[in-house]
Amino acid sequence: MKLPLLTKETMSIKGQDLLAKIRHDFIGLDTEYETVDGNKSRRIYLDTTASSLMMGVAHRSSNDFLKHYSNTHSLLHFSAKISTKTYQWIHNRILDFVHADPNEFTCFFMGSGVTAGMNRMAKTLNRIRPERDMVIVSIMEHHSNDLPHRKHGGKVMHIPINKNNTNMGGIDMEIFEKYLIQFHDRINYVSITGLSNVTGIINPINKIAKLAHKYGAYIIVDAAQMAAHVPIYMSGFDDKDLEIDALLFSGHKTYAPGSPGVVIARKSFMSAIEPEEVGGGMVDKVFPENYFVSKQFPNREEAGTPNILGAITLGCAIHVLDSIGMDNILKKDLQLTNYAIEKMKEFKDIFIYGDSVDDDSKRAGTISFNILGLDHGLVAAILNDYFNIAVRNECFCAHPYVEKMLHMTHSEELEQLDCLDDHLSWKVEPWMGMVRASFGLYNTIDDIDFLLKSLEQIIDRKSYFIDNYSVNENGDYQHKSFNFSSKDFFSLTGSIDKNILST
Ligand SMILES: Cc1ncc(COP(=O)(O)O)c(C=O)c1O
Repeated sequence: MKLPLLTKETMSIKGQDLLAKIRHDFIGLDTEYETVDGNKSRRIYLDTTASSLMMGVAHRSSNDFLKHYSNTHSLLHFSAKISTKTYQWIHNRILDFVHADPNEFTCFFMGSGVTAGMNRMAKTLNRIRPERDMVIVSIMEHHSNDLPHRKHGGKVMHIPINKNNTNMGGIDMEIFEKYLIQFHDRINYVSITGLSNVTGIINPINKIAKLAHKYGAYIIVDAAQMAAHVPIYMSGFDDKDLEIDALLFSGHKTYAPGSPGVVIARKSFMSAIEPEEVGGGMVDKVFPENYFVSKQFPNREEAGTPNILGAITLGCAIHVLDSIGMDNILKKDLQLTNYAIEKMKEFKDIFIYGDSVDDDSKRAGTISFNILGLDHGLVAAILNDYFNIAVRNECFCAHPYVEKMLHMTHSEELEQLDCLDDHLSWKVEPWMGMVRASFGLYNTIDDIDFLLKSLEQIIDRKSYFIDNYSVNENGDYQHKSFNFSSKDFFSLTGSIDKNILST
C-alpha cells in the first residue's frame, strides 16, 4: 500500500514531469570556482557516489519545519506533537519506499550513514545465532560492508568476482553457492552491496537472497548506493525466500545531506535481543537496580534524541524520489551511464573497469576508469583545476575490489608488489587507484559531453599536463603555478559575519 502524496497539487504531477520539475532544484548546481586560466566557471559535480547534493525542496521543507522544531521526546505541547507525528510518518514512508511490510519490518535511524547501522546489524545477528560463526560478503564491498562483519559478525569469507565476463564485474554466483553448500551449517548471514560504489554494477539482490535462504543464511543488503538509483523490493513476494532480511542506506547519498543512516530490519531480529545502545527514549521504566526496554519500534532502537531535522530532510527527499518513481529514475540513470560508457569506450586511451555482459549486472550512476599513462590523482587534479569537474579518485574505500580490477591495467606493477609479500612494507603507489565519475538526478547529457571533451584534451596533451604538476609531500598532485584558497570561497566565520550583518 502506497502512502498518499501530501497535497492534491503534487499528486497531479506525474513521475517524469516531477523529475523534470525538480532536477534543476539542487543546492550547489550553480557553484562557481576560478580555474587555472583565471576564469570563473560553473562546477560540474560528478561525485554523487560519495555524497549527493541537497535536494532544494527537501532543504526548504526542513526549513519550514524549523519553526515547529522541538524534541520528539516531549509529548504534549503543540510543536512536540508536530515533530513526533512527522518523525513517525518518515519511518513509515521509508518502509513504503523499500516495499517492506510494516508488520514484519521496522525502520530506525542511526549514525550518519550505513556504517553505524552495519556495525549494529553485525553485532545483532551474531548475538542471535552465536552457533553460526561465519559470514559471507563479496569482494566488491565498501569497507563499511566488510570490516563490521570481520569485527563483530564472525569469520568472513569473500565471494570472488565473476571472471567469465569480458571484464571483471559482478559476483560469481557459482562460487557463492559453493560456499553456501560447503559451510551451510556455519554461515549466519550474507551481506552484499546492492550497487557497487566502484563500478556501478547492480547486484541481483533478491536472487542472492533466495540462494542465501535456501541454505539457512540471512541476507543483509548494503543499499548505500542502490537506494537513490534502483527500485527496492524487500518483501511482498509469493516466494518468501526472495525477501531481504535487513537493508541499510545513507541519507547523504539520497539527496539529504546531514540526515541519519537508515536501517530496515526484521522486527523478529531486533526484538530477539536487547538493543545494543541504551539510554533515554528506549525504556518504559527505569529503577535503580533494573530497567525495562520498550517493546515499541522504532523507539527501542533509537536511544537518545534523534537527528530530527536530518530525518525531516531525508523523509522529504525519499518522498520526492518515490513520487517520481524509482523505475523512472533508474531508466534515466541507465541512459546517462550507458551513454557515458559508450562514448568513453571510443577513446583507446581510456580503460573502464568492470564491464559486464551479464544480464543481471546492469550499471548505474558510477564509472571508474584510468587514462593509460597518467596516474588517477593527476587526472582528477586536471579535471578539477582546468575544467572545474569534481570527481573522486583513489580506491573508494573498496581496496580489495579495486586491487582486483587494477590487474586489468597494472598487472606488472601488482606482481612486483606481490613479490615483496610483506604487509609491513606495503605503501600506496601513485598508480594504485582509479578516477570515478558519478551521476545524480541533476546531471545531464551536457555534463557528460563536457567530461568527454575534457578527457579528450587531457589525452591529447598528456605531456603538457604532466609538466605542469608536481607531487607534494602528501603524495597529491599539485599544479606548479595555480593555487586554490578555500577561504576565498567560503569561511565559516565570514559566513557568520555576513549573516549577522544581514539580520
Ligand atoms: C556501497 C557503500 N557502502 C557503504 C558506504 C558507507 O556509507 P557511509 O559512509 O554513509 O556510512 C558507502 C559510502 O560510500 C558505499 O558507497
